[in-house]
Amino acid sequence: MRLDKFLGDQNIGTRKQIREYVKNGRCKVNGVVASKADIHIDPVKDMIAFDDVELTYSRFHYYMLNKPAGVVSSTKDGRTMTVIDILKDENVKDLSPCGRLDIDTEGLLLITDDGELIHRLLSPKKHVDKVYEVHMAKELTEADISRLEEGVDIGDKKSDGSADKTLPAKVEKAPADEEGNPVILLTIREGRFHQVKRMLEAVGNEVVFLRRLSMGSLMLDEELEPGQYRPLSEEEINNLKK
Ligand code: URA
Repeated sequence: MRLDKFLGDQNIGTRKQIREYVKNGRCKVNGVVASKADIHIDPVKDMIAFDDVELTYSRFHYYMLNKPAGVVSSTKDGRTMTVIDILKDENVKDLSPCGRLDIDTEGLLLITDDGELIHRLLSPKKHVDKVYEVHMAKELTEADISRLEEGVDIGDKKSDGSADKTLPAKVEKAPADEEGNPVILLTIREGRFHQVKRMLEAVGNEVVFLRRLSMGSLMLDEELEPGQYRPLSEEEINNLKK
């Protein structure tokens, strides 16, 4: 692989910037300053360093975004800002959000160009746990909680026409929000369209604010404000792939 391709894949800069960086002696191959950007290196065996920081080669890119409200979870949208627009400085092709959050939902969104991982995490067969912080219009009764936990009819139908209820879920009460709205942490294992809002509607309640806190092993970094993102750590990537 060419050195400039390796550095580009690791988001060091554009091809032009990389040529400049190499010219300025900022890149070393096995401890020796690289002479040119187009030399060939072995991404596995050679030790590549930029500004004396060793780079580990990764074919794919993984980011955690704290999605803000008002932004759509798609790659392109003529009018509304998308989650991919937020990562525009990353200079990475083929990034996609792993699943969708509604325009008014905030919280954890994995954004990656690893299509296989996206496919695995979203596969209905895998039942990956997702935890949502749900702010509601009113308190849930014990009967509402049991219904949500056992599975509710949200209007979806099976092929034989019978109700396709939601899979068992988990409800944990949390302290009310600043406006006094009751809050729960709801764990679901599916990703149906508007699922959380429809589940609460099915028990006669209403979601007033929704934030996703986790997806499988990946937890929203509390340091990230809505609209901020960061690359996943190697440990986070490995845990997601397990
Ligand atoms: N369920 C919803 O209703 N909306 C979301 O954005 C995510 C889950």
